[in-house]
Parts: sequence; structure tokens; C-alpha cells
Amino acid sequence: QTIFVLNGPNLNLLGKREPEIYGSDTLADVEAMCRKAAPNAVVDFRQSNHEGVLVDWIQEARDAASAIVINPAAYTHTSVAILDALSAFDGPVVEVHISDVHKREAFRHHSYVSLRADHVIVGHGVAGYVEGLEWALGQL
Ligand code: DQA
Repeated sequence: QTIFVLNGPNLNLLGKREPEIYGSDTLADVEAMCRKAAPNAVVDFRQSNHEGVLVDWIQEARDAASAIVINPAAYTHTSVAILDALSAFDGPVVEVHISDVHKREAFRHHSYVSLRADHVIVGHGVAGYVEGLEWALGQL
């Protein structure tokens, strides 16, 4: 089974970026945690700062992945294009946010991606990725 774990803008700075909100683990640490949590699956772990690249990867997942775990970062709150791409994907979709977006600014309370996600994990820190991956594997 191949699972795409996709990360949106600024998550390349994880560990350095607002560590009081997002913690000190880097995205490479998160990738390692995901691989460890899913030793029998192929974890295809990617990050982009570009909306269209994320759309291309979600389209690629139609043929290449059984499930998608995605932290769309700021595009969560803005991107109909990412919502539409996910709506064209048939497998389980898990939306992960490291921080508790509901306790932050009002503009973070709405998620376009949640309109398609089968499962949403917010505010569990980077452990949310592992939870999301395990949930997705449980659906397959
Ligand atoms: C985030 C929350 C978003 O509001 C923010 O834009 C991010 C990260 C999170 O993981 O908590 O970049 O998705």
C-alpha cells in the first residue's frame, strides 16, 4: 500500500518556525515517525510551498496511492482547488493540523479541506500525523 503524506506551505520550516505553536520537531523528524508507524506501507512524504504542485500531487495519488494524509497548512483556509482535487480522489483522506486551529485566529477556523476529509485531527502536535496515518491504514 502506498500512502501519500502531503504537506503545504511553510512546513519545510517546521522546528524553526514559531516553535511555541508548532514544536521543535522538524519535517524530517515527522517523516521518520510516519515511516516507523507504517513499516508495511510505502510512505510517500512530500512538501511544497506551491498550491498547484499540491494539486498535481493529489491528482497523481488517484493512480499511485491508496490514501492521502494531508496538512494543507495555510491553503486549508483558502484553497477550493485543493478541495476539488481531493474530491476527485476515491480513497480515504485525513486532514492533519499540528496546532489547534479552532483556538487560534478566526480565519483559521474554516477549512475547505474538511468538506472532503474523512477524518480530521487538530491540535495533537506532530503526533497527529502518526494518528492520521494509522487511521488511514485502518480504512484500507
Ligand atoms: C497548520 C495550521 C494552519 O492554520 C497554518 O497556516 C499552518 C499549519 C497546522 O498544522 O497547525 O501553516 O496547518
